[in-house]
Amino acid sequence: MDRLSSRDAMTAQPLLPANAGRRRFLTLATALLGAVGTAYVIVPLVESLEPDASVKAAAATTVALSPIEPGMQVTVPWQSKPLIVVHRTPEMLATLQAVETLLRDPNCEVPQQPPECKNRFRSLKPQWLVMVRVCTHLCCTPLYEPRKGSVGPRWLGGFHCPCHGSLYDLSGRVFKGVPAPRNMAIPLYHFSEDEKQVAVTAMYPESKLC
Ligand code: FES
Repeated sequence: MDRLSSRDAMTAQPLLPANAGRRRFLTLATALLGAVGTAYVIVPLVESLEPDASVKAAAATTVALSPIEPGMQVTVPWQSKPLIVVHRTPEMLATLQAVETLLRDPNCEVPQQPPECKNRFRSLKPQWLVMVRVCTHLCCTPLYEPRKGSVGPRWLGGFHCPCHGSLYDLSGRVFKGVPAPRNMAIPLYHFSEDEKQVAVTAMYPESKLC
């Protein structure tokens, strides 16, 4: 069999896969058209997934306050998350100052709550805690442990996450030395005029769940 000279080899290469250039062009053009077509399909799909105003309104929830006795809590599902409303007693409120040296962010500098709730009580009215009951470590649901000594000998009451042991006070502020990095999230909410209900409308946009 004849061997190709180096000159033959150079000149033969463009001819070897017949129509290779044309095929490559068609492949590229098809891929490009496919990508453009996909983009046109995806954009309306994503837009259609954006909740409109009525859906957002339906995502709000209202909790009746009168059935919640002092010291008790109610937890309701809200936007696929547990939302807790705690009726704190004066004794419970007094524990909040007592634990502050043990907390990671006692003054709530990290925006895990609306500005009007940036206080020791993390609420609009001290006796009512309205909070997303989700641990900021890996999104478990912490247990409500209001009784003194129930979690440890110096425990004054708060929340205990059983997943990896994170601890929070009765305002949902996280203790130092536990896996959870932030205080639990306080949503946007308001009370009804007669103060018998609380309406929770949305997550505070700067807050993070976990
Ligand atoms: S998820 Fe709560 S401590 Fe890990």
